[in-house]
Amino acid sequence: MSRPAHFLTLTDLTPDQLRRLLKRAMELKAMHRNGEQYQPLRGKVLGMVFEKSSTRTRVSFETGMVQFGGHAIFLSPRDTQLGRGEPVEDSARVLSRMVDAIMIRTYEHEKIELFARYSQVPVINALTDRYHPCQLLADLQTYMEHRGDIRGHTVAWIGDGNNMCHSYIKAARMMDFRLRIACPEGYEPKAEELEQAGAEISLVRDPLEAAADSDLIVTDVWASMGQEEEQTKRARAFSGYQVTDAVMAAAKPDALFMHCLPAHRGEEVAASVIDGAQSVVWDEAENRLHSQKALLELLISIRAGLK
Ligand code: CP
Ligand code: NVA
Repeated sequence: MSRPAHFLTLTDLTPDQLRRLLKRAMELKAMHRNGEQYQPLRGKVLGMVFEKSSTRTRVSFETGMVQFGGHAIFLSPRDTQLGRGEPVEDSARVLSRMVDAIMIRTYEHEKIELFARYSQVPVINALTDRYHPCQLLADLQTYMEHRGDIRGHTVAWIGDGNNMCHSYIKAARMMDFRLRIACPEGYEPKAEELEQAGAEISLVRDPLEAAADSDLIVTDVWASMGQEEEQTKRARAFSGYQVTDAVMAAAKPDALFMHCLPAHRGEEVAASVIDGAQSVVWDEAENRLHSQKALLELLISIRAGLK
């Protein structure tokens, strides 16, 4: 059997595939809103391995599979042999003989790469410490719905150089937008990620400088899952990095605000911003469903030789 197409980072798609996927996500959303039943994955099963908590990712993948006529199985380390030390390679070989695609949320990115090497079916990254590509599908779809093509526009990332920031770096290259990252010293994106970034990506210290005239302001929590014990230290380091009304005022008057959620009001974002008129976080959360349906359709149909 040929090797399956995986989605471990955004660049597992070509820029052209990504653009088509986003268009398809909007079509699937419209179809769903119109009450159209479309079940291309009848009888197909998605395995969902969660080693970290989730609300949006679990519900969007599970709902997407049900809407497509398929089924999803939630697998947590507490109740699977993977959590008791069964090798990743063995788990991948076994699970992929039974289900049609596997979604994984875990810590080390290397673990999902290893899993994918031994999987006979597509593997989807539902967040690792390194990347969160599914969230970028939703963010890009949301931007397009509100403002059209993101090409040539400016995005300001305010906060930690984390998994979301790394995914924004990849998105900027693929979708041709400018990305200004404002982060405190010591919390920059990984050097390897920055090295791959083109001239369109810049790193600054001042959130107001990053936000100036930008079209989209994005932030994320100061302490990601797995960094809970660093919370106090990080709260100190990031204290000047809240997305406030002043930061929004530095951007274009019609700039949007996004956050992958869950959010901490009063830490990385002011309540007046996330609950304000420029915030599109609820559309962004909903679009996890539609964009991941487009992803599942693409990966499972590539596997079935239909694309
Ligand atoms: N944004 C996101 O991935 O949310 P969950 O952690 O709730 O899945
Ligand atoms: N950076 C955050 C994103 C949560 C969706 C984390 O990894 O916890």
